[in-house]
Amino acid sequence: MINKKIKKNWHVPKGQELTELDKKVLYYQNKGCLVPKRSLIKTPEQIEGIRRSGVVNTGVLDLIAKEIHAGMSTAEIDRLVYEYTVGHGAIPAPLNYEGFPKSVCTSINEVVCHGIPSKDEILEEGDIVNVDVSTILDGYYSDASRMFVIGETSPEKQKLVDVARECLEIGMQAARPFGFVGDIGNAIQRHAHKNGFSVVRDLCGHGVGLEFHEDPEVEHFGRKGTGMLLVPGMVFTIEPMINMGTYEVFVDEEDGWTVVTEDELPSAQWEHTFLMTEQGLEILTY
Ligand code: MF3
Ligand code: CO
Repeated sequence: MINKKIKKNWHVPKGQELTELDKKVLYYQNKGCLVPKRSLIKTPEQIEGIRRSGVVNTGVLDLIAKEIHAGMSTAEIDRLVYEYTVGHGAIPAPLNYEGFPKSVCTSINEVVCHGIPSKDEILEEGDIVNVDVSTILDGYYSDASRMFVIGETSPEKQKLVDVARECLEIGMQAARPFGFVGDIGNAIQRHAHKNGFSVVRDLCGHGVGLEFHEDPEVEHFGRKGTGMLLVPGMVFTIEPMINMGTYEVFVDEEDGWTVVTEDELPSAQWEHTFLMTEQGLEILTY
């Protein structure tokens, strides 16, 4: 039976002739599938804008890759991000976003995400650090993060970092045009579990481009064939957070941002912004 609660998101303005894409998406919508709003399909001009934003975003991460070292504070990372971004005519998206006080998220070891840079937080040999960079250029948003290993870390933490990266790649490969968001999460979850790790459930990837967070929600777990239909022209992140122990997390009460694993075991995350094409996903944050 068709789930009547599923919103009929795809709406073609009255009097407008149906394109081949409209016909295809309406076919899925009429079958009862959750489809995106038509406005989530980016125009070529919007895609170019997001792509240019992604170039700056990648430049920031490449700079951090060069500069990050033991003994440095996360506030120094924040300053590098701010100066590079502004120097390239862009704005760091996190700065003042819903009250976030800094230009970048820096999340060390058991911190899952949304860590706030601080002059009192010094990187140490063996730390694994996520640096999550988001950029606004000419109104277009891009979002990507990488893990950095400070010097050498333990084999377990190194494996966590590697498997989290593989999860992003495998999730990317699982995403096909006219497949579903759940295909991505399912592939990621399988790979994490196969390696003895868990997947954070409380935070997810998201549409991005004209705003920081748009539809769809991209969960990193779930069942194939569920969630929103993936249509060429959609732009979204995949950003799996993979934990060594439990998938459960909590938010630091004092700052209201820092997300930490419940068991305080380490967590790792990699993220890219992707464009869905007729051939599959293209990375916009290389
Ligand atoms: N990539 C992160 C996200 O999409 C960036 C968060 S920035 C913050 O959630 F300002 F919200 F912390
Ligand atoms: Co994101």
